[in-house]
Amino acid sequence: MVELVYTLVQAVHNLGAVAVVASPAVALGSRGEGGQRRLAWVLLAAWGLQAASGAGFAAASYGLKGALPEVEGVALAALVVKMAATASGVTLGAALLRARRLAGGRPRAVAWGLALGLAVAALLAAAPLRWYL
Ligand code: HEM
Repeated sequence: MVELVYTLVQAVHNLGAVAVVASPAVALGSRGEGGQRRLAWVLLAAWGLQAASGAGFAAASYGLKGALPEVEGVALAALVVKMAATASGVTLGAALLRARRLAGGRPRAVAWGLALGLAVAALLAAAPLRWYL
């Protein structure tokens, strides 16, 4: 039962990771405001899903085992990187949606490039979090 809950949380988290990386990658190669807007919604939803499913790991530990895992050292640093990337990703996604004209050349490309960089940073931080936790 405990394993099943962690597996479901992990499945959602992994799919969110794909969307967080894929949406800016696709946006950087596409044109047209409609598509950009849709991708900005996907980006925002995906970062939100990562925050929720990331918190889901903690909720599962607390609910099923009665305690949070001890996160320290390298694992703590990795978790901080992921949380900072997620907070920045949500902010960037919201900013992209608020921007009047998304099909606006260089600033838009910079924003999507930044979003891709944040996603890659979070993905890289997942490795030490997994093995040092
Ligand atoms: C607030 C944000 C986040 C939190 C709190 C969080 C937390 C976690 C936790 C607790 C695990 C399980 C570690 C373990 O016991 O093995 C995990 C795994 C993972 N996370 Fe996150 N995460 C967050 C954001 C992200 C983001 C933004 C991405 C990708 C872009 C991501 C990608 C992954 C991947 C791929 C794994 C699986 C690692 C593996 O088992 O090899 N996470 N995350």
